Amino acid sequence: MDYREKKLYDFLVNCMEIDNKPTLNEKLNIFIKLVSSWKKGNDDSDNTTNNNRITIWERNLTQIRESISLDRARYYINRMIKSLTLTNVGKVNDIDFGNWKEYEDILTDSLWLFEKRDRTLSHNASYWGNFIPQIPNQLIRRFTKKGETVLDPFLGSGTTAIESLGLQRNCIGVDISQDQIAHSRELTESVDRKNVFLELIRGDSAEVDFKKLLSEHDLQSVQLAILHPPYWDIIKFNEEEGNLSGAPSLEEFRSMFSKVLTNVLRVLEKGRFLAIVIGDSYRKGEWIPIGFYLMDDAMKMGLKLKSIVVKNYSDTKAKRQSSQLWRYRALKGNFYVFKHEYIFIFKKP
Ligand SMILES: C[S@@+](CC[C@H](N)C(=O)[O-])C[C@H]1O[C@@H](n2cnc3c(N)ncnc32)[C@H](O)[C@@H]1O
Repeated sequence: MDYREKKLYDFLVNCMEIDNKPTLNEKLNIFIKLVSSWKKGNDDSDNTTNNNRITIWERNLTQIRESISLDRARYYINRMIKSLTLTNVGKVNDIDFGNWKEYEDILTDSLWLFEKRDRTLSHNASYWGNFIPQIPNQLIRRFTKKGETVLDPFLGSGTTAIESLGLQRNCIGVDISQDQIAHSRELTESVDRKNVFLELIRGDSAEVDFKKLLSEHDLQSVQLAILHPPYWDIIKFNEEEGNLSGAPSLEEFRSMFSKVLTNVLRVLEKGRFLAIVIGDSYRKGEWIPIGFYLMDDAMKMGLKLKSIVVKNYSDTKAKRQSSQLWRYRALKGNFYVFKHEYIFIFKKP
C-alpha cells in the first residue's frame, strides 16, 4: 500500500465505528477534499494512472455519502476496504489489473508501428544504429517494476539507460566502445535519478563479471535484459576486438552472440524476461535471416519464446535518398526491401 492507500484504508476502518449518518457524511466531506488534492498534472503516464485511481476513490466515497441508510453506507465502506486489501498488481510489472483498461499505451499486439521516434528526456537520434526509445520503454513497463534492474549489454548511445532512469529502474549498460560509453554518460547526465543507480561500463559483454557488478549494489540478479546487437556487419560499429560487427562469418557472429547471451543469462532472474532486437541482412542475392538464427540459438539455450514482435523499420536519411534505387533493385532482383525488424521476447524458465 502506498501512503495514500494507507490513509484511505485507516479512514474507512474508522468510518465503520461511526454510528450515525450525519457525522459520517461530515467526515466524508472533509476526506473527499483531501483525496481530490492528491491529484497531480497529467504530464506523464504515472500521474495519469494515479489520477484515474483517485477518481475511482472519489466516486466510491461519494457513493458512500449519498447512500440512503447507514447500513448501505457500511456495505460500500466494506467493499472499498476489500478492494484496497486485495491487490491485483502484475507479478513482473506495476500494472494494476484492477484498472487494466487504463493502460491503453502498453502494446499487446505483435505488430509495432511507430511513426516517429520519441524525443522526450535526453534522447537524440545521432547514433547510427540506435533503436527508438519506444522499444525499451514498452519492454521496461511491461516486464519490470519500479526499482528493479535492467541490463543492456549492447548499450550503444544509451537509449535503454535513459528510459530506465526515466521509469525509475536501475540500469547496467555495457558497450565495447569507450566513445559510446562516454556518449551515454553525457546523455544520461541530465536525467533525474529517483533512488535508482546507473552503471555504464566499457567492456566485452561476453566477459564482463555481471555478478560482481551487481554485488556492489547488494543485488544478485537483473529482472530484464534488452539485447540490441549489431545486425552482424551491416554497420561496422568499431574496430574493437570482440565487437560483433567485426565477425568474419555468420557462424562466428552467432557464436559471439551466444557467448554474450550465456553471460547475461547467468544474472537474469528465473521467471523474468529477455528481449533480442534484431534485423536481417541481404547479400549475394540471398536473404540472411539473422533474426531467426539468433532466435533459434536462444531457444536451444533453454529460453522459452513468448513473442515475436515485428516492428516497422524507419528509413535512415541515406536509405531515403536511395529509395528509388532500392525499389529498382528489388523489382529487378526479385526480392523485397527491408521494412521491418524483430523483437524476440523470451522468458527464463
Ligand atoms: C545496434 S548498437 C546498439 C544501439 C543501442 N540500442 C542504442 O539505442 O544506441 C550495438 C552496439 O553493440 C556494441 N557491441 C558490439 N559488440 C559488443 C560486445 N562484444 N560487447 C559489448 N558491446 C558490443 C557496439 O559497439 C554498438 O554500440
